[in-house]
Amino acid sequence: MLKVGLVGWRGMVGSVLMQRMREEGDFGHFEPIFFSTSNAGGAAPSFVPGAGALQDANNIDALQKMDVILTCQGGDYTNEVFPKLRSAGWNGYWIDAASSLRMKDDAIIILDPVNQNVIDKGLSSGVKNYIGGNCTVSLMLMGLGGLFQNNLVEWATSMTYQAASGAGAQNMRELIAQMGSIHAEVKGLLADPASAILEIDRKVADHLNSAEYPKDHFGVPLGGSLIPWIDKDLGNGQSKEEWKGGAETNKILGKPAMGEAGSVLIDGLCVRIGAMRCHSQALTIKLTKDIPLDEISDLLAKANPWARVVPNEREASMRDLTPAAVTGRMHVPVGRLRKMAMGGQYLSAFTVGDQLLWGAAEPLRRMLRILIE
Ligand code: HSE
Repeated sequence: MLKVGLVGWRGMVGSVLMQRMREEGDFGHFEPIFFSTSNAGGAAPSFVPGAGALQDANNIDALQKMDVILTCQGGDYTNEVFPKLRSAGWNGYWIDAASSLRMKDDAIIILDPVNQNVIDKGLSSGVKNYIGGNCTVSLMLMGLGGLFQNNLVEWATSMTYQAASGAGAQNMRELIAQMGSIHAEVKGLLADPASAILEIDRKVADHLNSAEYPKDHFGVPLGGSLIPWIDKDLGNGQSKEEWKGGAETNKILGKPAMGEAGSVLIDGLCVRIGAMRCHSQALTIKLTKDIPLDEISDLLAKANPWARVVPNEREASMRDLTPAAVTGRMHVPVGRLRKMAMGGQYLSAFTVGDQLLWGAAEPLRRMLRILIE
């Protein structure tokens, strides 16, 4: 059995990963060795009987004994440990949720329902580094894989509505604290049916902009507002999250780098909204040819078992195409499909997906299964 070292299994993405691995019976297929950056010698989790004591996640000798290392520990850990391991001669498989290695030439971005062919090619040519993609990109490709995989996209813009979870566990807590503090501020007025809505609104607005509003993690209000910037400022007007859309999509699909002949052009605008853990995105797609909507729906629905086409109707969209409907679930609905006023090659679409499942944990556990089988 392969020895698999698990690092960062206790954090938010790691915990979702552990839950999915238990649900799918993954632990019966390899020998798990749990590592810790802070509690070496402590007890391994009880859900894997006999897993022994936690090993030190910074001990290169211990890590070198693994056939596979799967980490959700984050980019700083990867930057620190990965180069040391490789320069010590370790030749095992490195599966990582962090972005540090994603765009390296010797790494594959994993999303097997979309790019099994790229993964297979990597495995047969000896690639050892398999990295999970940016959540927004992975969720776009899970929902709209049918169009991308059939080379039907000339270009696309993605306008995102990204959940608090993408910023981290503390940010999810802060979003709830923000929502609670808004309510607390006007609770008395809300309870009085005779109170004036503009007075309530003024109090909320004052509170949002006051020092009392909890915003240590986001820096600005998210609850009752939104944040039209995610990740670093690249200095050219684009955020790093927006850059990832084009760069990673092309790499996942095994295409040339964006802008080069044969690549697909993706750009957009990424926005944080007050959802908990589901990222949504509205897409405008220029198709490479004018194909009918029913064919498009068919291609999308058949692309993978998780993409689910929602009829472009009011009730179905309001019921099935929302973060509230999708949270904690594996399917990725795609809807609001219609040809736009610009012409038959212009498609509108909206998709939603759980950022912690297909956006983070699921591609990692599936890569492990690919290695085992
Ligand atoms: N960068 C994403 C976000 C999450 O901030 O929502 C990780 O892919």
